[in-house]
Amino acid sequence: MLRCLSLVFCVLSLALSLASAGRDVPAKAATIPILETDPLAKLAKLVVPYGYPLEAHNVETKDGFILMLLRIPHGRTDVDAAFSAKLRRSAGMPASRPVVFLQHGLLDSAAGFLVNGPGSSLAFLLADAGYDVWLGNVRGNTLSRSHAFLDASDERFWQWSYDEMAAYDLPAMMQYALRTSGARSLRYVGHSQGTTVLLAALAGPAGAGRVPSQHGGDGGGELMGGPAVPAGLVERAVLLAPVAVAKHISSVPLLTMAAMGTDDMFTLMGLHEFLPSQELVAQLEGRLCVVQPYLCVSFLAALCGYNPSNLDITRLPLYLGYTPAGTSVQNMAHWAQAVRAREPNSMRYFDFGNNCASFSGRCNQRMYGSVEPPRYNLTAITTPLAVFGGSQDRLSTPLDLEYLRESLGPGVLKLSKNLEAYEHLDFVWGIDAKKLLYGDVLRFLSGDDDDMGPTAAGQGGSAVL
Ligand SMILES: *[C@@H]1O[C@H](CO)[C@@H](O)[C@H](O)[C@H]1NC(C)=O
Repeated sequence: MLRCLSLVFCVLSLALSLASAGRDVPAKAATIPILETDPLAKLAKLVVPYGYPLEAHNVETKDGFILMLLRIPHGRTDVDAAFSAKLRRSAGMPASRPVVFLQHGLLDSAAGFLVNGPGSSLAFLLADAGYDVWLGNVRGNTLSRSHAFLDASDERFWQWSYDEMAAYDLPAMMQYALRTSGARSLRYVGHSQGTTVLLAALAGPAGAGRVPSQHGGDGGGELMGGPAVPAGLVERAVLLAPVAVAKHISSVPLLTMAAMGTDDMFTLMGLHEFLPSQELVAQLEGRLCVVQPYLCVSFLAALCGYNPSNLDITRLPLYLGYTPAGTSVQNMAHWAQAVRAREPNSMRYFDFGNNCASFSGRCNQRMYGSVEPPRYNLTAITTPLAVFGGSQDRLSTPLDLEYLRESLGPGVLKLSKNLEAYEHLDFVWGIDAKKLLYGDVLRFLSGDDDDMGPTAAGQGGSAVL
């Protein structure tokens, strides 16, 4: 179904001179300004110097995008994975490690799950806990900017939104991870848009909605019906600061974009990469930068919000070295549409509008065969979910989370927690995320959700670890 490119087993520990710095580099060392320009080598600096293994795999989607899927196959103490497999078998455990798939948020990359380093960032904690950790990178970010026949300078490279990430990127990356690891199913952790794409992939279009591929040729190609990812593939999923219904987003840049309208955005910014240029950032960050310059740390922070008291200021240069990681104007326009949504509790496919003679030449009639874009059927999701929200989150607002909970079928939501004072980026950047959040995440992933507070419900599966 998808063609996988030559598996690039980058044995990065050999390729990188930094590796010689040894295993006990303190976390502070990572705040050295990043001079590396190759995106993979730059990302590897977050992993390899600390003695963790890192693999980079190229995965091609059905519509030709070449994504970089990263893997930390085991923790640093587990030097000989083969030996460990033997040990696991002799202890009556499955030979392969359980696979966990981490999916980053909007304008972020796999780096989001790594930037706080070993002992703090989730990817390392999971590797140390015995997981085979896979980190996705969706189309258009710094690590996934290739296509089988389109160049990133070509407008056609950028004609997608999170609909396509859900329809093509997730299935391709997940199936690749499962095939390579030999596991039959995986556990999932998404942050922000990383939750959106999972929900979209598991839900599929409501009703008889069938969704055309934008890259299948003239006026869309093959029609897709039903969920992009079969329910059985994802054992359970953790949603960090989820965004599905997005009516109540209060992020200033997104509100500004929502006020623009889709065609205005395309006219102003083009139909290609969303480049937060200096002028644009000034316009979109707006009063935030003027009133409180220290808040204006990056476009991503302005967009998403973070909690200054929960941020290690010495790590800012590091964060800014990895974000914003890039996306398309159309994707930002889709988010703006979600903010403008007339019905509060619905999650819709991209709205191409009804003017088939528009700037882009695309319209709903042509793309979907209907005047309105289809909705996602959130009640079709059966995967056990844990939802973690933040009371100060401007993108994943408590009100929209309430709508999400109401939209899910009965029994699907196994755990729902709200973190006081948490903003959108605290879920990945927060100093106290390990203490307040990741323990619960690990427990839920292991199937141990029987006694996780008053909102926990349902059966705890058997603990795998
Ligand atoms: C949504 O999914 C549920 C469960 O699969 C199904 O019963 C329902 O008919 C679907 N709703 C729509 C509008 O497609």
